Amino acid sequence: MALAFSPDADREFDRIVRRYPNRRAALIPTLVLADRQFGYLSREAMEYVAKRLELPSAWVLSTATFYTLLRKRPTGRFHLQVCVNVACYLKGADQLGDHLKKRLGIGFGEVTPDGLFSLEGVQCLAACGTAPVIQVNDAYHEDMTLDKVDALIESLRTAPADGGAAAGPGGAR
Ligand code: FES
Repeated sequence: MALAFSPDADREFDRIVRRYPNRRAALIPTLVLADRQFGYLSREAMEYVAKRLELPSAWVLSTATFYTLLRKRPTGRFHLQVCVNVACYLKGADQLGDHLKKRLGIGFGEVTPDGLFSLEGVQCLAACGTAPVIQVNDAYHEDMTLDKVDALIESLRTAPADGGAAAGPGGAR
């Protein structure tokens, strides 16, 4: 079956289009909407966005591939992004990343077999003052330590099914 926005997402799409002066300006928020709706931006999802905004596919594809916040492959229910840039690196991001890899049994760019977690190393999350930082779905977890990582993983494992869009406890922005 061809991809299509849900009725709710369709209403949000209409709101986005009305908010911007032209359809090209609405591209990034529409990609964010599609990312959330479809779980990630497959080639088919990007083509769908291009069609809905009446934009050339090449514009949509090049924009989507430029921004790392837009997912281009399936992720787990909880997508953990570990900042590995300088400020976080200096405050132990490497150890946090290694700890998570060991604990979850996956590497960066991988998803746990149960589909619960995915892991990724990312560049600066713009929260350098509270490094090291891990983003879980939409929420930031700052001043992270190995103990905090362990507590976070445990809380996410037991999060209710409708808690997927949230980020678990602590530091949500
Ligand atoms: S270097 Fe990690 S938030 Fe900036």
